[in-house]
Amino acid sequence: MANSEYEYVKREFEFDRCLPPSNWIVVRIDGCHFHRFSKIHAFEKPNDKNALRLMNACATAVLEKFPDIVFAYGVSDEYSFIFREETEFYHRRESKILSLCVSYFTSVYVMKWKDFFPNKELKEPPYFDGRAVCYPNLKTIRDYLAWRQVDCHINNQYNTCFWMLVKSGKSEQEAQLALKGTFAKDKNELLAQQFQINYDDEPAMFRKGSSVYREKVETTVKIDDFGDPIKRPRLKVTVAHVDIIGPEFWENHQHILREGKILHWFVKKFGINHILSHCNWIVVRINACQFDQFSTIHSLDKPNDETALSLMNESASLMMEQYPDIVFAYGFSNEYSFVFHEKSELYQRQESLILSSCSSYFTSLYITKWKEFFPHKELMQTPRFETEALCYPKLKIVCEYLSWRQAECHAGNQYNTCFWMLVKSGKSEKEAHEILKGTLSKDKNELLFQQFQMNYNNEPAMFRKGSCIYRQKVEELAGAEDGDNDTTRERWHVKVDHVDLGPGFWRKHSWITTNCTQ
Ligand code: GTP
Ligand code: MG
Repeated sequence: MANSEYEYVKREFEFDRCLPPSNWIVVRIDGCHFHRFSKIHAFEKPNDKNALRLMNACATAVLEKFPDIVFAYGVSDEYSFIFREETEFYHRRESKILSLCVSYFTSVYVMKWKDFFPNKELKEPPYFDGRAVCYPNLKTIRDYLAWRQVDCHINNQYNTCFWMLVKSGKSEQEAQLALKGTFAKDKNELLAQQFQINYDDEPAMFRKGSSVYREKVETTVKIDDFGDPIKRPRLKVTVAHVDIIGPEFWENHQHILREGKILHWFVKKFGINHILSHCNWIVVRINACQFDQFSTIHSLDKPNDETALSLMNESASLMMEQYPDIVFAYGFSNEYSFVFHEKSELYQRQESLILSSCSSYFTSLYITKWKEFFPHKELMQTPRFETEALCYPKLKIVCEYLSWRQAECHAGNQYNTCFWMLVKSGKSEKEAHEILKGTLSKDKNELLFQQFQMNYNNEPAMFRKGSCIYRQKVEELAGAEDGDNDTTRERWHVKVDHVDLGPGFWRKHSWITTNCTQ
């Protein structure tokens, strides 16, 4: 494909999810609205032999087409396909694997319909949905298959009884009632006593579902000079209706689910990097873990410790120096959100690298700056920060996100201010919680005013509004070395502010979110 100016839409937006290596991949497909589909095509109830044979023929064709599928198991309108553990089919790209399986299966279903229903017209296009699931070892893949076969048994036993009762004259509701709460044993007895049916004599295809796999069969490969066939064992796709829950089948067919070899080159493929979508604003939010304990150990002031908040602000400001792509930061209490410019290419936008480096650098700053802010307090416990990355496609949503964090700051701080005033005035913590339960913002302001003569709005803005950090142009004297004191030059300065983050703020500071700070 030629590289056009538009090619970036692929390079930057299309990402293929690759299924992790060294896992068995199961693609399970299921007929969409087959309840209706089987009705309009008058399938026999509860099992239509031809419909099931058609499904099996499709599965056989799928195995013949895709050699990396080692086993398939089908029941009713569903089929599971198992890819060998070390398959490199389409480099394990999920969308390719899934879409090809489901599309090829459907295509064969339509093409072969006439072979199985020569006298029935296909009245509407059948279609299937599908999912891909990874199973890490032989045990889980065997258990997966056992789960499907147990399901087949339970459903089929129920459906056999249900339709026998209906065919004998009961209404569907009566049949349902008759079977409610019955066990497998009861159902077998019902079939034996009322209908002289031994459930175990029912066709194995109905009871056991269908297993599709390659089996060695003696195949005529050519005719010798005397006209006798020369036979050789060849792998041929086979359908069987057997028990796959117990060990016997697997002991006799060890070639099917063979575990792959671990190759040294392949170990590095486990490192799957998630890329944060291009042209999205990335928000990295850092939050101190178990900060309650940390603040108690270091006897930080309650509800707000100005020095601890200043240390958070200093660390965040230094983050902005280190990461030029951070255009804005907002923090309160023990958390900080860093907004990366939508065009940031930091670590090619690999989530794990962005997350880990931010988290680590912030932690490092916090610890190294601790002494400056708390010269008389030793750092007794190592602080830890958990970090997550969020992706926002529109600037408007980033602003909403920040407003949300600021609303949280306000609500939390107002509550905590009241709570600690009550506690300091002699109430127990439990009493203080009780008093504040269900109060609105207005009520809390009144409580502070009436009981403590405090005007909440006069509390420090850093506590009420949190801290915003952004770059601002400042003018400074330049050319001092030349003795020319008259000239000034502009410089970007990292500013910490405690203001409302409404639309007014963004209008007034429009440069923050445009390119001009870079
Ligand atoms: P979705 O899969 O959610 O789209 O719905 P669905 O209608 O396909 O139902 P679901 O997959 O849960 O169940 C499969 C349905 O297919 C059964 O409930 C039956 O109604 C129908 N079905 C499958 N095989 C046969 C069959 O051999 N005979 C008859 N009569 N119906 C069948
Ligand atoms: Mg279905």
